[in-house]
Amino acid sequence: MEQTFIMIKPDGVQRGLVGEIISRFEKKGFSLKGLKLITVDRPFAEKHYADLSAKPFFSGLVDYIISGPVVAMIWEGKNVVVTGRKIIGATNPSESAPGTIRGDFAVEIGRNVIHGSDSVESARKEIALWFPDGPVNWESSLHHWVYE
Ligand code: PPS
Repeated sequence: MEQTFIMIKPDGVQRGLVGEIISRFEKKGFSLKGLKLITVDRPFAEKHYADLSAKPFFSGLVDYIISGPVVAMIWEGKNVVVTGRKIIGATNPSESAPGTIRGDFAVEIGRNVIHGSDSVESARKEIALWFPDGPVNWESSLHHWVYE
């Protein structure tokens, strides 16, 4: 079953959106396979965003991510990478649709509340970085009500 890495950014934690965000993934039918509240240091954040190191917004993005605790999660389910990105909404909140997390709770790109892996390969790398011990191995009793 596919897995993705989802991170509630410091603004999402400070604004009390953790429960709301987890609820949206749970209600969809996805399964939580890893969860921790963690404050990361600059080298760790730079590693997470290494692909963006040449971008002009890179240092601001790293400053933002290390500015407070984040909630790091592994979510599992059918097509969870692509569907998770749909639940999150477009990267720039001015373009994200109402009903998505960013469409409902964010105004600008530098405070867009949440990160989700953009591919199965990125998810694999990000889960390995954030959860070196791997996911929690359990299966929801609802599995059979979510999948045929
Ligand atoms: S890019 O330029 O197309 O590679 O960037 P994009 O895929 O749209 O976004 C990658 C991550 O960079 C964040 N981002 C920004 N942060 C701060 N300021 C600005 N201007 C900015 N532009 C993009 C964006 O939120 C993505 O972070 P994650 O954590 O993956 O959502």
